[in-house]
Amino acid sequence: MATRVRKAIFPVGGLGTRFLPATKSMPKEMLPVVDKPLIQYAVEEARAAGIEEFIFVTGRGKSAIEDHFDHSYELAATLSARGKIAELQLVRDTLPTPGQVAYTRQQEPLGLGHAVWCARNMVVDEPIAILLADDLILSDTPCLKQMIDAHAQLGGNMIAVMDVPRAQTASYGVITPGRRDGRLIEVKGLVEKPRPEDAPSIHAVIGRYILQPQVFEHLSGLERGAGNEVQLTDALARMIGDGPFYGYDFEGRRFDCGTRVGFLEANLAFALRRPDMRDRVKDFLKNYT
Ligand code: G1P
Repeated sequence: MATRVRKAIFPVGGLGTRFLPATKSMPKEMLPVVDKPLIQYAVEEARAAGIEEFIFVTGRGKSAIEDHFDHSYELAATLSARGKIAELQLVRDTLPTPGQVAYTRQQEPLGLGHAVWCARNMVVDEPIAILLADDLILSDTPCLKQMIDAHAQLGGNMIAVMDVPRAQTASYGVITPGRRDGRLIEVKGLVEKPRPEDAPSIHAVIGRYILQPQVFEHLSGLERGAGNEVQLTDALARMIGDGPFYGYDFEGRRFDCGTRVGFLEANLAFALRRPDMRDRVKDFLKNYT
């Protein structure tokens, strides 16, 4: 049995330039899908997978995220005085157990690898999960739970993968696949954002990772890669051969909430799953086809 995964890192320092002007003074991770911020979906997914400690790598202008996962006394008092019990519960549900959340700042936006490296002193010799809130996944079993269950048997490194159209490989990390066994695909190589003609496959990396702590050593050189950023994918490529390394072809639909159209689609898909909204949404959609 592999060591249990207890900690998760949430890199939330990105600037969110694709959503300007909405993200001028608001973190992109606070954009709501229906009525819940993206970051809360990610935290709930981690909690459902058994994660006990939540490490946020934030940046300037991101304090709304810290406030979201804290008490809001005035709001709670007002809701309570008005007898709004259901709403009060929604507000309380955001609260982590005291001491379960830690924040550190990525002082400069030098890339995902750099963001993860910023959390190195908060993880000592145990595997970690990493969740990118931009990748929202609708599934029967939360994506990270699917992976943690598989990882408990296998150990090593595991990353979520999904097939994408070849024309889109330049937006993703892409694996060189080895043997396939059910949902598991052996990872023999990794490259960040290859051109379609250079991509080793169409199995793209999606923002869920379970990694051995050696990743921090592999990141410590802070070498720049694609886009002149410190890439997590490059550090992972250097870990191949250190132990088992699998891609996990998860069950579920992933929405790229880092793009405007993906975000819009996520809103529709999640609204259509809500019994209180489904019929009205279906009804008005007829006006647009
Ligand atoms: C990041 C990773 C990339 C991965 C993608 C998934 O890229 O660097 O390997 O495929 O997330 O969403 P980004 O979307 O931040 O450019």
